[in-house]
Amino acid sequence: MQEYDLLIKGGRIATASDTFSADIGIKDEKITCLGTSLNGSATRIIDATGKWVLPGGIESHCHIEQESSTGAMTSDDYYTGSVSAAFGGNTTIIPFAAQHKGQSLADVVKTYDNRAAPKSVIDYSYHLIVSDPTDKVLNEELPAVFEAGITSFKVFMTYDLIMIDDKQMLDILDVARRFGALTMVHAENNAMIKWMTERLQETGNEAAKFHGISHPRQSEVEAINRAIQLATFLDAPLLIVHVSTNEGANAIAQARQEGRKILGETCPQYMFLTDENLVGAGEEGGKFICSPPLRDFQTQKDLWRHLQNGTLQLYSSDHAPYRFDESAKLSHGPNPPFHKTANGMPGIEYRAPLLFSEGFLKGRISIQQFVELTSTNAARIFGLHPRKGTIAIGSDADIAIWNPDREVQITETSAHDNMDYSPFAGMNIKGWPELVINRGRLIIDNGELKAVRGQGEFLRRKPFETTGYISHLPPELDVSKNHGAEIL
Ligand code: URP
Ligand code: ZN
Ligand code: ZN
Repeated sequence: MQEYDLLIKGGRIATASDTFSADIGIKDEKITCLGTSLNGSATRIIDATGKWVLPGGIESHCHIEQESSTGAMTSDDYYTGSVSAAFGGNTTIIPFAAQHKGQSLADVVKTYDNRAAPKSVIDYSYHLIVSDPTDKVLNEELPAVFEAGITSFKVFMTYDLIMIDDKQMLDILDVARRFGALTMVHAENNAMIKWMTERLQETGNEAAKFHGISHPRQSEVEAINRAIQLATFLDAPLLIVHVSTNEGANAIAQARQEGRKILGETCPQYMFLTDENLVGAGEEGGKFICSPPLRDFQTQKDLWRHLQNGTLQLYSSDHAPYRFDESAKLSHGPNPPFHKTANGMPGIEYRAPLLFSEGFLKGRISIQQFVELTSTNAARIFGLHPRKGTIAIGSDADIAIWNPDREVQITETSAHDNMDYSPFAGMNIKGWPELVINRGRLIIDNGELKAVRGQGEFLRRKPFETTGYISHLPPELDVSKNHGAEIL
């Protein structure tokens, strides 16, 4: 009998707190040994000399096999979405299971289980999108979902068909707080967007390039501030997703300085693209329609700063793949008005490589910050740490081996998703995760997919309150000590 299923030798390992040179012994899906010059017998030995050996990425904001509120289905299913994630160095995805009005949460979760289990090639969980918080949903169904290990919920402050009002948001924050779950929010002011959209329609300005104007910065800033106040009122933790403005990130920084349990996320599109991509694409501008919209060059710099200093803890793709054809972005015909174009863009495969190339290799962030932003913070925040998100004895053997010298040119179709374009096409990046290992199994081997459909496992996640992620808070603000209904 072999001592190890897999031995990774000679690499430079980085975690969120450390870098060191060591060999990694893997047995029965787990890391069982870390040390120099490991010599035990192994079924397979990987030579990682000259490579970075990092925790597998955790992509915690992506839309896979999900119907939008208007019924448009994402162009990736759990097979193509997870394959593309794996090629980009990820070993876990946490997409959304979306409730539409009238649906029971049990039905929602069952639907997504049926989609994910037979297809996902890497481990997965879901965040539950709550759009219809009836009494039954709040009192019975959300607690049941939470018991099943789905410990984060997303709500929308915009999009007519799924948005909730402030009172409903308080109801959801309250349930989440009592159960130790984390609420995530899409923060944009719906009225401002609708008002601007009407003005643009009246003046005949409906081309894709007007999308950004229809989602003003103030819309995000107002909604982020309101969401923070609602969460603060209940002392509930809140994650503001896809932050696209400096003012929004500043509001998060301020709340955190005051000891509030507010977390923030941004995405590669806000750091590597601008409104000029949308405008410059002309009739193909719909490819760059996402919400919140692309901003400007100054915002890119601001968001880098907020990632560097920890105001924003998560860097996620918000992979929302809608092909630029009649099946998705052009379902209302060629040149659809911006307000009839599915919102979102792909990027699950290039999320981590873009940050490795432009962040770590260009000296904007350290390798430890790269690991935090692509893996460890998501594991901590979403209740998967230390099983996931680190390289340590006893953790799942989820590892990406990065060649820092490998140069990659992104083209419209170089990713392994089911898309017919990439918003990052034309960029040349350096560094690539050549080998990817999920629970000890090699799933990507130098450009070749080795995983089979359905080998990913559903991950039951721990409550947010037990993660210790907010343990720096003063005791009176620590939800684990100041629990739920006792406050009221
Ligand atoms: O435009 C985007 N981001 N579409 C995906 C859905 C969302 O709001 O995250
Ligand atoms: Zn959103
Ligand atoms: Zn999203």
